[in-house]
Amino acid sequence: MKVSYHGHSVVQINSNGKTILIDPFITGNPLADIKADDVNPDVIILSHGHNDHVGDTVQLAKKHKALVIAAFELADYLSSQGVQTHGMSIGGAYQFDFGKVKFTQAFHGSSYTTEDNQIIYCGMPAGILFMNEGKTIYHAGDTALFSDMKLIGERHPIDVAFLPIGDNFTMGPEDAAYAAKLLNAQKVVPMHYNTFPPIKQDPFHFIEMLEAKNGIVLKPGEAIEL
Ligand code: NI
Ligand code: MN
Repeated sequence: MKVSYHGHSVVQINSNGKTILIDPFITGNPLADIKADDVNPDVIILSHGHNDHVGDTVQLAKKHKALVIAAFELADYLSSQGVQTHGMSIGGAYQFDFGKVKFTQAFHGSSYTTEDNQIIYCGMPAGILFMNEGKTIYHAGDTALFSDMKLIGERHPIDVAFLPIGDNFTMGPEDAAYAAKLLNAQKVVPMHYNTFPPIKQDPFHFIEMLEAKNGIVLKPGEAIEL
């Protein structure tokens, strides 16, 4: 399994010949190393409805006939836009042919703002567990620190955890370092930083704070093999 980072919260998983994109905010993402035209997803998984996470979902899903997995309410909205969706809710898991997906809690908001400034309710924000090939990836979405991260790590031993460190809208570096301790993941990768001025952070400072010394800074375009 190959897991690549494309800036902000964009994570791409290549597993058993399938391409899975999480939170494909590519167009308008100043940190993205790719163009929306360069990706060919089979599946898109969304943590929540904010525009910096939904990103290019509708265009990509239509072009590539990709399945979009999202919170039930967000999936409902996206299916009204002509996209094939699979709605889930927090605590639920589903075995797809490309891997198992489970939604975990996240403390955040979730709405989508349309081009004509309509605000769409998108249900609860989520974290994402993706399991395949005996590996577990945790994408925390946008969230505050919460103590049940310990429970998530106990129930699903995590190989790689992607954690937001930007502060202001999510955990900052100190809370994310504490989250890493609770999750007890093999590897920790920071995300959701330096995209916009309010979330400017030094990811190397973050990984220095990790007691387990298990942090990896992935530059946009870099990947890890599991
Ligand atoms: Ni958000
Ligand atoms: Mn965000």
